[in-house]
Amino acid sequence: MEVQWNDDLAIGIGIIDDQHKKLVERFAGFSRAVDEGDMRRLEETVNYLVGYAIQHFGAEELIMIRNCYDQFDQHRDEHSWFIKKVFGVYCLLAKNAPFSPEEAGELRDMLYNWIVDHIMVKDKRIAVTLNSFGGPLHAEAKRP
Ligand SMILES: [Fe+2]
Repeated sequence: MEVQWNDDLAIGIGIIDDQHKKLVERFAGFSRAVDEGDMRRLEETVNYLVGYAIQHFGAEELIMIRNCYDQFDQHRDEHSWFIKKVFGVYCLLAKNAPFSPEEAGELRDMLYNWIVDHIMVKDKRIAVTLNSFGGPLHAEAKRP
């Protein structure tokens, strides 16, 4: 299961694209770790995802708020769902609870779907909407 960074993934907001690129790179390593049953790498990725989710979603949500984005609530619900999933896996691993190859595969599927659905569709909609306000996009305030 592979995803390569490409133009379809870029939404056109630099700070967000840079963070998405890092997630895609991490996914490649994570996918290999799942194939190889490399639990250490898997744990490293989950550690990364916890920090990524909080920082990256915070950046996206700030952009949505400052631009009075019309689908902020729904979008934030998806972020919360992602955080809950990653939080659950993080706590399992932190407690050295059993974590099966099947569960690792499910996490990989979840990340893959996140990249191709949330990023390519939902995140892209933010940029398209902000663009329709006119002018260059900024991570800072850009109101309609
Ligand atoms: Fe998002």
